[in-house]
Amino acid sequence: MRMIDLIEKKRDGGELTKEEINFFVDGYTDGSIPDYQASTFLMTVFYKDMTDEEITNLTLAMANSGDVIDLSSIEGVKVDKHSTGGVGDTTTIVLAPLVAAVGVPVAKMSGRGLGHTGGTIDKLEAIPGFQVELENDKFIKLVNETQVAVTGQSGNLAPADKKLYALRDVTATVDSIPLIASSIMSKKIASGADAIVLDVTTGDGAFMKNIEDATRLAKTMVRIGKLAGRNTMAVISDMSQPLGEAIGNTIEIEEAIATLNGNGPEDLTEMVYVLGSQMVVLAGKADTLEEARAMLVEALESGKAKEKFKEMIANQGGNPEIVDAPEKMAQAKFVYEVPAKESGCVREIHAENVGIAAMILGAGRKTKEDSIDYSVGVKLHKKVGMDVKEGETLVTIYSNTEDVAAVREMLYDNITIGDKVEEPALIRGIITE
Ligand code: URA
Ligand code: CA
Repeated sequence: MRMIDLIEKKRDGGELTKEEINFFVDGYTDGSIPDYQASTFLMTVFYKDMTDEEITNLTLAMANSGDVIDLSSIEGVKVDKHSTGGVGDTTTIVLAPLVAAVGVPVAKMSGRGLGHTGGTIDKLEAIPGFQVELENDKFIKLVNETQVAVTGQSGNLAPADKKLYALRDVTATVDSIPLIASSIMSKKIASGADAIVLDVTTGDGAFMKNIEDATRLAKTMVRIGKLAGRNTMAVISDMSQPLGEAIGNTIEIEEAIATLNGNGPEDLTEMVYVLGSQMVVLAGKADTLEEARAMLVEALESGKAKEKFKEMIANQGGNPEIVDAPEKMAQAKFVYEVPAKESGCVREIHAENVGIAAMILGAGRKTKEDSIDYSVGVKLHKKVGMDVKEGETLVTIYSNTEDVAAVREMLYDNITIGDKVEEPALIRGIITE
């Protein structure tokens, strides 16, 4: 087989066989296919698209290119949850202990943040002592004994995706639906869950800027998951503005604790219940979404979910006292209130740029090599659809430098106040087929 023939076939509208796709993935991973041919191939896929069968074969080839985690020694149906990315997305930190508290095993592999999006693993590291690199045996033991563990991705999970993603990043081929779908699903399949709940975000802070593309991506991933033998469903959610109020690391842990205490932001709380109910049903612990939601509400209101969070922190080497005393986490030196310049209704909060503002303060990374300042970030006091009076606090900036003028201006530029608008719908669709 020759790579040039595969490129030509795809260029002319042909459909690649499983053997041809395996040839490409194996050859690119082992270095026998050069970057220039892989780049051309990716661009051809960008323009010519792929059939479901091609996407499934690409996904499985990438999933099998490295370690495939075996979770079969964990009892019960292991359900994973994955978000396609957002700003201030604190969901997993609340969801993992909450769903575990009703007896669903949560073996969660999470990632780090890059650019305007944050990562769960970085946020958990804001908890003093918390270990995010768990050995496989320890990870499985914790889930078996306590229903929950959250770990960073093992080094050799889907190496083909790692290499291809880096190439896509520099060849303008990231935002291709077959390439995104196969990239995400290859890692989900390699990480061993039996069932997968996807949160496909849409809007300014997400990969998919409009609902049509988000729906197509969600449907594609659900089909691939099912073809690969994993029960998969997707929730399409709004990411036109950040989720919840906090965007940072320490302050998102505080937000997660408030949510577990029943005092969290409305949108984050709702997101957790919607995704959690789906996970509980897929795990076979409830027959209907209503029943699942009632179980989760009980676990949250009784304090069981909060206790599970403390247990999870202690199991992974962290200090569980922070749950009752969040001030024990590193705090920012300076706290600045940003007042509204006029009265009116908040019409827009540009998620991507607010995420970048938090990144500039040090809460995120511009490049993979940057380090993170856990204590900094921004907290939104008014979300889209809420009224604000001139002089009232719009945002709080948590910073370790006094020089926040540029960040303050950026926040003003990206939060629009004006005539009344409705609160945007959080859940934009549910895809099960
Ligand atoms: N996240 C991934 O893991 N891969 C993509 O291609 C896009 C988002
Ligand atoms: Ca948040």
